[in-house]
Amino acid sequence: VRILNVPLGERSYRIKIGAGLLSSLGVECARLGFGRRCAVISDTNVAPRFGSRAQAALRAAGFEPALIRIEAGEQAKSLKTFETCCEQLAAQWLERRSLVIALGGGVVGDLAGFAAAAFLRGIAFVQVPTTLLAQVDSSVGGKVGVNLKAGKNLVGAFHQPRLVLCDLDTLRTLPQREYRAGLAEVIKYGIIHDRGLFGRLERDVKRLLAREGRTLEFVVARCCKIKAEVVEEDETETGRRAILNFGHTVGHALEAISRYGRYLHGEAISIGQVVAARISHEVLGLAQRDVDRVCALFRQCGLPTQVRLSRSELDRLLATMKVDKKVVHCEVKFVLAKRIGHVEIGQTVPEKLLRAAFDAGPKNRD
Ligand SMILES: NC(=O)c1ccc[n+]([C@@H]2O[C@H](COP(=O)([O-])OP(=O)(O)OC[C@H]3O[C@@H](n4cnc5c(N)ncnc54)[C@H](O)[C@@H]3O)[C@@H](O)[C@H]2O)c1
Ligand SMILES: [Zn+2]
Repeated sequence: VRILNVPLGERSYRIKIGAGLLSSLGVECARLGFGRRCAVISDTNVAPRFGSRAQAALRAAGFEPALIRIEAGEQAKSLKTFETCCEQLAAQWLERRSLVIALGGGVVGDLAGFAAAAFLRGIAFVQVPTTLLAQVDSSVGGKVGVNLKAGKNLVGAFHQPRLVLCDLDTLRTLPQREYRAGLAEVIKYGIIHDRGLFGRLERDVKRLLAREGRTLEFVVARCCKIKAEVVEEDETETGRRAILNFGHTVGHALEAISRYGRYLHGEAISIGQVVAARISHEVLGLAQRDVDRVCALFRQCGLPTQVRLSRSELDRLLATMKVDKKVVHCEVKFVLAKRIGHVEIGQTVPEKLLRAAFDAGPKNRD
């Protein structure tokens, strides 16, 4: 078991990573010192698998846990589900000293965290992430919220959890496609901050794909540590936290123009990171060898690295990037890599270069 600290003054918390941690959920929550009443929020895929184990662990430690189930899938990250959740928290008589436990992927974490942030003007919550993406990314950092029709994550808050419990065993039941999508965020940490991690991922790609226990423990812990450090430096994303958006400018736009149907987030940012690497070669002199390594690692993980776009689709993609909320003064700002392990934020990229980066893939040439 690995334990990390996220030092944010009064809002500091620990991240625990290991196999079988779900059975210690009750003891861990009891240590935090909250009231007996609590609610586990989970979804229709995760609740049948891990819901009763979580409740049993909580009961054994003296809690009275209610289980609130939401529909699985991004659709549930809505104001409507948020309302139902809050109504159920009220119906279960949760009070100021009660705890909300988010048991599931990023959708559950964001939604349950937002319910906890708003219910009674804010009660405590614990993250028990069960997808790779949630373990290495969304459960750490305190961004919570829901989607609007106008766009993803447009309503939300910063509300840090009191504890993050990553039980690596829960990842065993994750569908292959979801698992691989999570790897795209893992690789991102190597590119933005940790050349050593990137090298280890290259060497251990087979173990990683086999979800081998010790490799997973190392990788999840390393990624959480990087995310925790970035969040510590810049809790509310005024500057450096933006390095986490490497590959996301293009990735988000791809998700949007395909109406969130074709790509999982991890798949879209896989393509996005390869495009960003190519642009990095032109703008910051990232070595061609490193561009190739980046591309090869995504491919070995079974992730897409290129996209076939017609001229009009590419136009739409570029237009979409310009309405992304990270745009400053109508110029698209990119996070670009100088080398594997080091990126720079706020880079402007001439449109011509951007178009060329999409054409660079062998399959796009015609
Ligand atoms: N708050 C943040 O900082 C942050 C960061 C990145 C992403 N996000 C958000 O996270 C969400 C995506 O998260 P996600 O990829 O975890 O998606 P998700 O929560 O939808 O989970 C993916 C699928 O896997 C299922 N599932 C979860 N755990 C499982 C398990 N152990 N076994 C079997 N099935 C399981 C879920 O029911 C779902 O069908 C998006 O809404 C995104 O906006 C938030
Ligand atoms: Zn992401």
